[in-house]
Amino acid sequence: MSTEKTFRLDGKAIPFEDGETVMDAALKAGEYIPHLCHNPDFEPHGSCRICVVDVNGRHQCSCTLPASEGMDVDNSSEAITNKRRTLLQMLFVEGNHVCPACEKSGACQLQAVAYQTGMLNPHFTHFFPKRSIDASHPDIVFYFNRCILCGLCVRVSRDVDKKAVFSLSGRGHRTRIIFNSPSGKAVDTELAITDKAVSVCPTGAILPKHHGYETPVGERLYDCLPISVVGDAAKHHTAKKHFLNGDPDE
Ligand code: FES
Repeated sequence: MSTEKTFRLDGKAIPFEDGETVMDAALKAGEYIPHLCHNPDFEPHGSCRICVVDVNGRHQCSCTLPASEGMDVDNSSEAITNKRRTLLQMLFVEGNHVCPACEKSGACQLQAVAYQTGMLNPHFTHFFPKRSIDASHPDIVFYFNRCILCGLCVRVSRDVDKKAVFSLSGRGHRTRIIFNSPSGKAVDTELAITDKAVSVCPTGAILPKHHGYETPVGERLYDCLPISVVGDAAKHHTAKKHFLNGDPDE
């Protein structure tokens, strides 16, 4: 008799090991749960709420929810999809996401998850916030208009690159990413194009300079297949090669 522990995700048995989250186990089993602030290579953060699922009538974030035996998880009902779509609409109006003018279009997780949930309009009134662009770094440009405050760059620079180049500053709708440098500019940090933090942004907020539109629009990662099939851009070889111009196997 099998002693494997499982929970059910949309009726399908998902095996898991002690300590794994619902998101961990689902992704390992090849089941996609939409997510933006989560990257399977790093510790979960639980801030974007896009990974919300229904567990026995309660809406919870699957990226931080420990899997447990016998759980019944709804990942795709209309109610859950509607909730995710509303969260996405809020993200779109809080920033300035002009997809047709963005180099990341077609390889952007925010855009791809919006397509995946069937988001056709922003629904809410745009904030049109005034946000800066920092082009001071010789190799990297920062478009804060496109930042969704997932915190991945902050966590990865601190925990993986061991540089703590970024911080989250402010509270509520005034929260923003800042550089930890005397001038407040990217150029005065230790950030390098090869840093892991540069490649984890799920949107087009952090982009390499000197490269653009090398993959034609229409042939990009999520132009070809939905995010539910190909997963995170940062983990995908084509995307890594395109956005970092480095060895895709590094
Ligand atoms: Fe779980 Fe962002 S992916 S809260």
